[in-house]
Amino acid sequence: MSGGIAAYKACSLLRLLREEGHDVRVVPTESALRFVGTPTWEALSGHPVTTEVWDDVPGVQHVQLGRWADVVIVAPATANTLARAAAGIADDLLTTSLLTAACPVIMAPAMHTEMWHHPATQTNVATLRARGVTVLDPAVGRLTGADSGPGRLPEPAELAQVVGDILAGGATHDLAGRRVVVSAGGTREPLDPVRFLGNRSSGRQGWALARRARARGADVVLVAAHVDLPEIPGVRTLRVGTATELHAVMLGQSAGADVAVMAAAVADFRPADYADRKIKKSDDGSDPAPVVLVRNADVLADLVARRAPGQVIVGFAAETASSPEELLALARAKLARKGCDLLVVNDVSEGRVFGADINDAVILGVDGTVVADAHGSKDALADAVWDAVAKRLP
Ligand code: CTP
Repeated sequence: MSGGIAAYKACSLLRLLREEGHDVRVVPTESALRFVGTPTWEALSGHPVTTEVWDDVPGVQHVQLGRWADVVIVAPATANTLARAAAGIADDLLTTSLLTAACPVIMAPAMHTEMWHHPATQTNVATLRARGVTVLDPAVGRLTGADSGPGRLPEPAELAQVVGDILAGGATHDLAGRRVVVSAGGTREPLDPVRFLGNRSSGRQGWALARRARARGADVVLVAAHVDLPEIPGVRTLRVGTATELHAVMLGQSAGADVAVMAAAVADFRPADYADRKIKKSDDGSDPAPVVLVRNADVLADLVARRAPGQVIVGFAAETASSPEELLALARAKLARKGCDLLVVNDVSEGRVFGADINDAVILGVDGTVVADAHGSKDALADAVWDAVAKRLP
């Protein structure tokens, strides 16, 4: 770790990694020790800690550490440490170890917003990324003082997840620096204070899309309609209720985003009238008045109509069909109607997929050709979607 106030959060990261069974060596810079001292790092890691190449010279620490590690994470990475790493400067044990490390290297920057936005820092980040280093985007929020903005160290649980993904070999950071907006869940259209018209979407596919996009480095906004799932670390979740609310939030959030994904099940119709008071049975036993429905806006079609150059828009289609051919024909007709770049098609005949852990889906490209066949977990489908998206981003 290098010398930022966020070094205190690295203590939690260290604990999490140890609890997952990893052997962790801590290499602080001199300035990092001004924030958290050697005894803390030694106690939490169970190993001696030094900042200097001059300690334990016969052990040739800088080479030994670089060879020993399966993964290196610099958390927090200050502007100064990013600059030293980008320039290949080796003036302490951390930077010399970075030069000898043959394993994946992750940098988790933390600094004030001005320092992060400075062209010098941005150039260093670009240099490191071009060299294959995984440089995470800093989280957005309250900084050391009263100010807030991009510059926070991502939460320890999120950092531990990135380390785990990279060790599992499944991590690419192909969405770093990209802004993505994902809708999830199912809208509810109220009839009266206690009743609504809804659907059976659990929101789990949208959640998987947001989680995997975050793991691949994207800045993710999740627009959730009635989803009963825990918040994802590092993902900003905005809760909505009706199709009209989802429409407004999706359009607002998608302006300036690189990708918009409509995984939510949006009600096509809403009751024309909302009863302020609960609708009661009539005393004379007569039938209730029929519920009159009016059309909701088509969010996906409106996103397509406002698409910025280079923006990628993904739609979902849940269809019931009697054969794979009919499924594809229905999906292609929907794709032509909606005009999105990718359409993920699920067969939901006989209750399949809703609430299930395993998905069977095909992903169609803009011209209707099948670009991927995805069978497996919701995470696997999410990754197949992001693979197809990444290929289409400028
Ligand atoms: N969708 C939307 N706004 C709506 C309805 C649907 O943005 N009012 C989006 C869904 O999020 C999904 C895609 O459109 O990404 C297809 O949804 P689906 O319900 O299958 O399509 P519809 O256009 O409603 O077609 P139909 O119900 O006639 O099959």
